[in-house]
Amino acid sequence: MIPALMPNYKRADLAFEQGEGVWLTAADGRRYLDFGAGIAVSSLGHAHPGLVHAIATQAAKVMHVSNLYRVPQAEALASLLVNNTFADSVLFCNSGAEANEGMVKLIRRAQFKLGHPERTRILCFDGAFHGRTLAMISATGNPAYQEGFGPVVEGFDHAPFNNTNTLRAAITPETAGIIVEPVQGESGIKPATQEFMQGLRAACDEHGLFLGFDEVQTGVGRTGKLFAHEWYGVKPDVISVAKGIGGGFPLGAVLATEELAQFLTPGTHGTTYGGNPLACAAGMAVLEEILKPGFLEHVRAVGEAFGALLDAVTKSAPDVFDSVRGIGLMRGLHCKVPVGEVMAAATEQGLLSVSAGDNVLRLVPPLIVTEDECREACDRLVRAADAICEAKLTTQEKVS
Ligand SMILES: Cc1ncc(COP(=O)(O)O)c(C=O)c1O
Repeated sequence: MIPALMPNYKRADLAFEQGEGVWLTAADGRRYLDFGAGIAVSSLGHAHPGLVHAIATQAAKVMHVSNLYRVPQAEALASLLVNNTFADSVLFCNSGAEANEGMVKLIRRAQFKLGHPERTRILCFDGAFHGRTLAMISATGNPAYQEGFGPVVEGFDHAPFNNTNTLRAAITPETAGIIVEPVQGESGIKPATQEFMQGLRAACDEHGLFLGFDEVQTGVGRTGKLFAHEWYGVKPDVISVAKGIGGGFPLGAVLATEELAQFLTPGTHGTTYGGNPLACAAGMAVLEEILKPGFLEHVRAVGEAFGALLDAVTKSAPDVFDSVRGIGLMRGLHCKVPVGEVMAAATEQGLLSVSAGDNVLRLVPPLIVTEDECREACDRLVRAADAICEAKLTTQEKVS
């Protein structure tokens, strides 16, 4: 018989009862170092006192009112985002895919209102991941996510990632804008090159297109800057944000310049929950913490140390790992054995991680992680690799 929960996830037989900082305690009492952070979500770690207090306090006052009224919590969070980014205006929603849908709608509507109704197509890149809604599986372009869900939504084109030479040929008179992840996450922690990011901006300026960054995974401090595009010094027209912004509370956002945002007039777009008092109180607690002096410096310093420690892991376990990827606290270890095996062995050692494409083990701990905790995680990775090698040896001995 089918379980009450639909079977669309391959779940490990693990249930967690309590979290604290970078640690999670399972129902059987075992403690795990959480370097998955709910897939790059729990930016302040588990049970962060400030975040818990903000949510509890707001919940006891008013959780939800509709967007028929002013929402002071949303106004405050939007102002904080505007004051600290390229953006002039913010739209709140509930998830990454929904933020990307909003980003695409803003781009298309702006082209329409600016006298280019023919410009509707969005250029995306091979290896992208933009979410699982009908339009976002088209934007993602990976047939594995589309099978059986057709017809695919029209209006998305794809070009090779990090290839400036093929970029211009992919732009047509119907192209409205470009969307790209500054570091591709799901497909294996692949940073865009400086040349590519600059090439995207130049191509957009040349052709009158809008440039959108999907910062759902890279945003809110994950790479050591508030948003990853800041590393490149390339200004977007619009970005999508989710995951880390709510620190575990579902919240998404679209940040845009006035040129785009001006056209989202009353009635053009909306969502019942988007930017409600509770979600924005959570977002405010997270953002205020991340913007505190020293917080992003901490992410950069620990991120760099973590990168060096992971490099040492590849040297200690050359049969299992071959290279480190990523930036800040968005790291990947390219594996020489199936990543599923590595992830399971790491979990056995009390370390939680996430797999990504290209046989990469993704390590995206809470941003409050310390260098000592990164060292501990690396020790566990080496032990996991040893266990894999030992198991292989035992199998070989049995065979011979
Ligand atoms: C870059 C990127 N965009 C979009 C999404 C989709 O976000 P959500 O699962 O919140 O819809 C993800 C999720 O992993 C992501 O990594």
